[in-house]
Amino acid sequence: MQKVFDITHKVAETDATVLITGETGTGKDLIARALHYTGPRKEARFVAQNCAALPETLLESELFGHRRGAFTGAHADKKGLFELANGGTIFLDEIGETDPSMQVRLLRVLQDGEVRPLGSSETVQCSVRVVAATHREIRREVDEGRFREDLYYRMRVVEIRIPPLRERREDVPALAHHFLDKVSPRMGRKLTGFTNAAMDRLIAYEWPGNVRELENEIERISALAGHDDEAIGIEMLSEHIRGPGPGSAIGLSPPSAVPERDMNRAVDELKRDMIIESMRFSGSKTRAAERLGIPRQSLQKMIKRLEITQAELAPVEK
Ligand SMILES: Nc1ncnc2c1ncn2[C@@H]1O[C@H](COP(=O)(O)OP(=O)(O)OP(=O)(O)O)[C@@H](O)[C@H]1O
Ligand SMILES: [Mg+2]
Repeated sequence: MQKVFDITHKVAETDATVLITGETGTGKDLIARALHYTGPRKEARFVAQNCAALPETLLESELFGHRRGAFTGAHADKKGLFELANGGTIFLDEIGETDPSMQVRLLRVLQDGEVRPLGSSETVQCSVRVVAATHREIRREVDEGRFREDLYYRMRVVEIRIPPLRERREDVPALAHHFLDKVSPRMGRKLTGFTNAAMDRLIAYEWPGNVRELENEIERISALAGHDDEAIGIEMLSEHIRGPGPGSAIGLSPPSAVPERDMNRAVDELKRDMIIESMRFSGSKTRAAERLGIPRQSLQKMIKRLEITQAELAPVEK
């Protein structure tokens, strides 16, 4: 994340065209806005257009504008986003979804710095910084003939590739705390952190929806948390994130996540999580004890000593 921010800040000072790539939810929107609002164009407008959202003619008219009568329904002149963003930044989201004729038009705008509204014979000069984004492997789109190579090279003067969250798991704790700090007070909660076991699971999870999915998970937990809960425990995580049985909990915990002086606490935490998971899985103390390989009485004692509540032992509703 730090690498991405470093490039972003460097490039924000310039007018270079930037192509942001990354899977869904990795933060492409966020970076596009940062490029505008931390750069010299911040006083002018930032306009964004999702290129996948409109059929071609409408998209052309949105971006380049049209003259009255250019097509059925064009009752008046309309300025395009390139003109409106004059002096500022235009963000072309999902650029990978545009069709070939739109790509030709965009190439012309980028090369000449001028647009021609639909139905007009005159061009309009505009000084616009272009930032584009796509969730596709754009290089492959070019190789397979779906995206024009010349536009690709013109677009990616600078390419900012945002890695998926699973390739930068070290970002998970900072992001999780950031979202918790944001959402917990807003929802009137006292949540201020995570148990080690819960954080280990968050770090180990694959996050196919990337940062957006993490943000949603923290919001969900906050919403469902009790008024007095202070830490997010493993039992509060969504089931698919909490992962399979207790056996894998040990394998998943990165050794560095547990400071040595906290060993007793960490072991208790682990016992706690294993007991809760086993109880939820098997539904009775006898079977849970069997699964855990300990006598039933020991299980009972531990539940008492670790102050595990009945509610925590009950199966969670999905
Ligand atoms: N580094 C970060 N710090 C804080 N919040 C982040 C970070 N990266 C992403 N987010 C948040 O995650 C959510 C998703 O980010 P964003 O909308 O920018 O993703 P995207 O790559 O544009 O996704 P899509 O391809 O689906 O449009 C947003 O709420 C954003 O604020
Ligand atoms: Mg986006």
